[in-house]
Amino acid sequence: MTTIANLKAVLGSFFHTPTYGAFELLEHALVELDDAGTICRITRAGDADFEQRVAAARAAGAAEPGAYLELGANEVALPGFVDLHVHAPQWPQAGVALDEPLNVWLDERTFPLEARFADAEFAYAVGHDLARTFLSRGTTTVLYFASAHLDGSFAVSRACADAGQRAIVGKVVMDDPAANHDFYRDATPDQALADTETFLDRVAALDAARRADDPRFAGAFGAVTPRFIPSCTDEALAGLGEIARTRDAYIQSHCNEGEWEHSVAIERFGKTDAEALASFGLLGPKSIMAHCTFMSEGDTRLFAETGTVVAHCPISNAYFANSACPVRRMHEAGVHIGLGTDISGGFSPSMYDNIRQAVMASRMLEEGVDALVDATRRGAGYPARISAPEALYLATKGGAEALGLPTGSFEVGRAFDAQIIDTRRAFADLTGFGIFNEPADRLARILYLATPDNIRQVWCQGKLVIERA
Ligand code: GUN
Ligand code: FE
Repeated sequence: MTTIANLKAVLGSFFHTPTYGAFELLEHALVELDDAGTICRITRAGDADFEQRVAAARAAGAAEPGAYLELGANEVALPGFVDLHVHAPQWPQAGVALDEPLNVWLDERTFPLEARFADAEFAYAVGHDLARTFLSRGTTTVLYFASAHLDGSFAVSRACADAGQRAIVGKVVMDDPAANHDFYRDATPDQALADTETFLDRVAALDAARRADDPRFAGAFGAVTPRFIPSCTDEALAGLGEIARTRDAYIQSHCNEGEWEHSVAIERFGKTDAEALASFGLLGPKSIMAHCTFMSEGDTRLFAETGTVVAHCPISNAYFANSACPVRRMHEAGVHIGLGTDISGGFSPSMYDNIRQAVMASRMLEEGVDALVDATRRGAGYPARISAPEALYLATKGGAEALGLPTGSFEVGRAFDAQIIDTRRAFADLTGFGIFNEPADRLARILYLATPDNIRQVWCQGKLVIERA
């Protein structure tokens, strides 16, 4: 009987962005994994022991099928993506109902759909399909909003664990009877807080049990999740801040998303959305806030000072944010930023699509959009554009650093989370007739033109989770 061994070494070329602003190509390198699926050694062609280590890895692969992977001449690896903002129960409506303003879209379309997660089996089915879809697009780590239901939310955690995806999931809190439908809300603030604690306990137990079984389990984490200020009572917001503080838990919410949303906190508290969230103890280094388009200078400083992370969702912003997100301005002010799809405010589960939109939106912010406005006043009036490699950083290491999780690049000590890109698929040839062979051009072709079909394999924590024929 032959047993399939754990992957121990990969020989090939690897693109990644270990720092913001620049990419690196590890051309013809040997990446070695430990038993936990973590990168323990990288040897590059030209290093003294390269040939010897490759020979040993090949021999190990010959003895144990599965222990060694050699990428083909037309293949290259990228890190698995980190998606910092997703609503799992909205997956069935991705691409649907994007023509209403945010408040109408939530009340009339989204909350009735999310209410269906009262059925935990349905929640599991949707969560599993979404996790598999994300993996097939190269996304190995996701921060999810589930629904307001305890069991439905836990079903999403189980589905992601079963799919082999690293997932941080939150049971959504939306408890204000004046702001939510009776058919879809927490019964009381106390119930919302109790369910949040139970949810965090269940996810921690799931994580411990799976890790005990499998040293390459990618991880299941919980997050404290007030939907956004307009959905929650003061009591729930304060209680959630306290739960997060005592447990040192992740926090996720929406902040300063659009014209309407950012005005709610100002009317209710006489403070900005960001200041109000801070006053409830909801900002900090484990706090990830979606959108953040309407950021005053004070809000930006507050994020930088507290270490709060922005989940930039550029496709969603085009529909619901009434503006483009000042990514570069926030980055230069020292704010940590990652990228999110915001399924289904954003229609695409692909981080490639979001990388592209992040670049394009930043250019439109810089230059302006209305040709009837004089060029001197048309744009933002400050440098706003970001490059494709910068957007790749946000989609990989930026998101990983934001979560404090060791993934997002090919460096020793990081999980082997990778997508193997076949640059020569039929009808998806990224090689450009061999004319543009500089690494920057090869990477640009991948970032702008890769289709799901080009993603031949996806690995998460050293385990093969997607393989295309
Ligand atoms: N604000 C509160 N809930 C949501 C949501 O589900 N999607 C978006 N885009 N914004 C929100
Ligand atoms: Fe959202």
